[in-house]
Amino acid sequence: MQRRYLVCGLALALGILPAGAVEGDAEAARSKNSMCIGCHGIEGYRTAFPTVYPVPRLGGQHPEYIMAALQVYKSGDRSHPTMQSIAGGLSEQDMADLAAYYGAQPAVPAAGSAPVQSAGNVMRGKEKSEVCAACHGPDGNSPLPTFPRIGGQHPEYLLQALLDYKAGRRKDPIMAVQVEALSKQDMADLAAWFGAQQGLYTKH
Ligand code: HEC
Ligand code: HEC
Repeated sequence: MQRRYLVCGLALALGILPAGAVEGDAEAARSKNSMCIGCHGIEGYRTAFPTVYPVPRLGGQHPEYIMAALQVYKSGDRSHPTMQSIAGGLSEQDMADLAAYYGAQPAVPAAGSAPVQSAGNVMRGKEKSEVCAACHGPDGNSPLPTFPRIGGQHPEYLLQALLDYKAGRRKDPIMAVQVEALSKQDMADLAAWFGAQQGLYTKH
């Protein structure tokens, strides 16, 4: 499984698109993102259903990861009622365009963003983050598209994702192994550390 991810990441890193891949057009997405900005375009916007946490920042995320995330919501492999119904209405071309739009810019400092609110301890999170750095990069900004950027993401969203992997609500063979031995406090500390780094931002 891991090998498949790494091989795929290498192919993407080298700019080799798999046969039949749809190329995204960030300009075309300008008319398609009206259904996203009500949540992802508002700094600090929190979902009310089914659990309350901030919607993830998409600005500066790897387009390949955005595309993959939309595909697994659509297929039902990743569950979230709102995102499943939204992705369900998108074509492959729509997804590629939106991925190009949100991911077009490299990660920039999250200057002026809302103050970090988290239940974790940033410095303890730093100590625990070494194992994560192998894939996500020391500051959560891995250049490899296989690994989502997590630097600068809302700590509460990061914590929610880690809890979801641990509970099996979100399924990924690699992350399932990573969270196995982590306590809730470890996850909160890790979320605090990565959330405090520069990287992802809210793109309007
Ligand atoms: C009603 C609010 C809402 C709207 C509208 C919405 N989203 Fe989301 N989106 C969310 C929430 C909440 C999550 C986190 C869900 C989860 O935990 O899996 C999310 C997750 C995502 C993710 C996964 C991010 C990650 O880091 O894994 C992507 C990609 C995404 N949305 C893209 C879009 C796009 C593109 C649109 C418009 C076509 C859109 N969303 C519209 C609320 C929304
Ligand atoms: C062997 C590589 C690897 C390691 C080590 C690893 N991750 Fe991941 N991580 C991934 C992959 C691949 C994904 C995407 C999985 C998916 O699509 O759900 C991911 C996804 C995530 C996400 C969800 C991001 C989002 O936008 O929804 C978080 C949060 C995360 N990892 C945190 C961590 C933390 C914290 C550690 C260290 C304890 C860690 N990861 C270690 C490979 C890794």
